[in-house]
Amino acid sequence: MNDILNCKQLEKVFNEGSIHTQVLKGIDLSVKKGEQIAIIGSSGSGKSTLLHILGGLDKPSHGQVLVNNIDIHALSETKRCQLRNKTLGFVYQLHHLLPEFSVFENVCMPLMLSKIPKTQVCERAEKVLNRVGLSHRLDHKLSEISGGERQRTAIARALVTNPLCVLADEPTGNLDNKTAESVYELMLELNQVYQTSFIIVTHDMQLAKRMDRILTLDNGLLSSEK
Ligand SMILES: Nc1ncnc2c1ncn2[C@@H]1O[C@H](COP(=O)(O)OP(=O)(O)O)[C@@H](O)[C@H]1O
Ligand SMILES: [Mg+2]
Repeated sequence: MNDILNCKQLEKVFNEGSIHTQVLKGIDLSVKKGEQIAIIGSSGSGKSTLLHILGGLDKPSHGQVLVNNIDIHALSETKRCQLRNKTLGFVYQLHHLLPEFSVFENVCMPLMLSKIPKTQVCERAEKVLNRVGLSHRLDHKLSEISGGERQRTAIARALVTNPLCVLADEPTGNLDNKTAESVYELMLELNQVYQTSFIIVTHDMQLAKRMDRILTLDNGLLSSEK
């Protein structure tokens, strides 16, 4: 089996006092190397929850997630972080960037945890920032740039490690058409050059239609659109 990511019968129940909400009811998903998947679904259907569990950021109530054939939720916190950092890139809805650091520092951050020499770290960060159109903002703090620029910083940070799979939650949500287009192109290029897989939660049907598969999350289950 050479799935980059695989899950079977994934369930998630949120328990708040006596209220139990079952958001995911048995998700099966297998993502091959280089595969591009769009996940669509109405607000509150559990898309972000699913993405968090696939990336090892939240635990499932039932079921397993295999990342590169390793059960990510069975690992210790340290090992899980290492696996995440080595294999996955995240673009979150709420960017999770560090506001007191510069654009450049934020993008270098995931590589600082690796053993890559500093000069190479800087080169890669500059290249990917150039690609998302942020070369002129390298030294700006996150608090000094616009929402769209922060989103592009988040995308650059997710891509800088050349991950096997990028998990993106509405990556082009706040972007104008031109910038969204350059983000698609960047993702497509990475897909072709490095065979990066993508799982993208989106409302943008233009983006979704460019993916290999569109899956809809509805009533806790995923179904295929095409
Ligand atoms: N930490 C949490 N505790 C309790 N309920 C949650 C939590 N996170 C999400 N939910 C609930 O799970 C459902 C799905 O949320 P979410 O995954 O954010 O949906 P989507 O991303 O599709 O809009 C919602 O009803 C939300 O209120
Ligand atoms: Mg969401």
